[in-house]
Amino acid sequence: MKTRYFVKRHRLLMLVTLVVALAVVLAACATPPATQAPAASEAGAAEEAPAEESMAEEAAVGGELEIFSWWTSGGEVEALNALYEIYGEKYPDVEIVNAALAGGAGQGGNMKALLETRMMGGEPPDSFQVHLGRELIDSHVIADRMEPLDWLYEEEGLYDVFPQDLIEIASFEGKPYSVPVNIHRSNVLWYRPSKLAEVGVEEPPKTWDEFFEVAEKLKEAGIPALAVAENEPNFSGHVFENVLNATMDPEAYRGLFDGSVGWDDERVTQALEILNQAYDYANPDYLSTSWGDINDRFVADDAPAMMIMGDWTHGVLMSKGFTDYLWAPAPGTEGKFIVLSDSFGLPKNAPHRENIVNFLRVVGSREGQDAFNPIKGSIPARTDPDLDVYDEYLLWSMDDFKSNELVPSIQHGAAAKQSFILDYAIAINNLATNRDVAQAQQMLVQAAEDAGFGQ
Ligand code: GAL
Repeated sequence: MKTRYFVKRHRLLMLVTLVVALAVVLAACATPPATQAPAASEAGAAEEAPAEESMAEEAAVGGELEIFSWWTSGGEVEALNALYEIYGEKYPDVEIVNAALAGGAGQGGNMKALLETRMMGGEPPDSFQVHLGRELIDSHVIADRMEPLDWLYEEEGLYDVFPQDLIEIASFEGKPYSVPVNIHRSNVLWYRPSKLAEVGVEEPPKTWDEFFEVAEKLKEAGIPALAVAENEPNFSGHVFENVLNATMDPEAYRGLFDGSVGWDDERVTQALEILNQAYDYANPDYLSTSWGDINDRFVADDAPAMMIMGDWTHGVLMSKGFTDYLWAPAPGTEGKFIVLSDSFGLPKNAPHRENIVNFLRVVGSREGQDAFNPIKGSIPARTDPDLDVYDEYLLWSMDDFKSNELVPSIQHGAAAKQSFILDYAIAINNLATNRDVAQAQQMLVQAAEDAGFGQ
């Protein structure tokens, strides 16, 4: 029933988008868009919108709570459900509408497109999954579509339990705009020890040179070394941020986003060459394989031996009851933690404001984070978790998070704005398809120019 509700609404919204798009073109800037007539100004929603808030509260009695995400895989679904369960126990009269939508270019491309439509049309969902960092700030906060959450942080004591750096990443002009539910690590090499053992390899490769040595042995034995799913621009963008962090030190990598290091840098060329070579050792059908398929492939008997992917993979593999895998930092990235964080915020004009505020309380709570993260494969954003509920991988990740150098993920919204993520993912997809390093690098240079890095 919930799904049907979503699909109907989706179609309607596509129409609404067209109308809105036309209206925007015709009206130019004559009238402010619907989202610009918010319930509250940046100065503080809680204090400034009492009338609208109480209306929203009334409407919320027995009402809905609609949450957008792209979490549809094993582990993702169960983790979100764990949050919903806690919420459901506390607020049994609220109907949760789980509006999850997978696929699309870039991370969560389809969901983000629909979200944009809804936001532009003045019909935001109550909340949505959003990456902490540029994705949150540039796409939604600067566009003046979100309420600040400083008052909620104060009420829930979140200023004391989230690391200061994380609060800063969630903040714009001194106020946080979303509640992080986790910390994911991008640079993990997942490997099948039994596959490596088939070619006499006991330890996973620590560098790309070692990777190609192992890959050659695997190739001779008819085993793809690297699992890749590039039927749309997405997966390879993830792998590439890992390779970039092998050829660049953190300072240079960060410089790619503030204009101090150009995307024509030779270390970018080197990273593209490495990825280009790695495709020779990937599952040969990688251009027609989807992200969902690759997880099934990785647990199959004839699986590729290794996969470079974020630690939601741990959640996916656990949800399949699969155990023949281990992990290590992606080649060349030991001592670095490519970080990203999923969060939820409060859109201006959220239809069920009280319901979503209560959901955000659950998201930020110790109980919520300790229920969600052990299933999702991520570590909690809070610094006071119950360590007993976290497994060996997650305890390893927690240690690395504390001691490693943290660098922001590109593909997952931490380092750069959404328009760049898309252009970036398309450039790397072009490499996967055309195998032309110079062309892909030119596309990256163009993407950086279009994004205005350093201006
Ligand atoms: C990331 C997201 C993770 C995970 C992953 C794969 O962008 O932050 O939570 O869902 O995509 O879908």
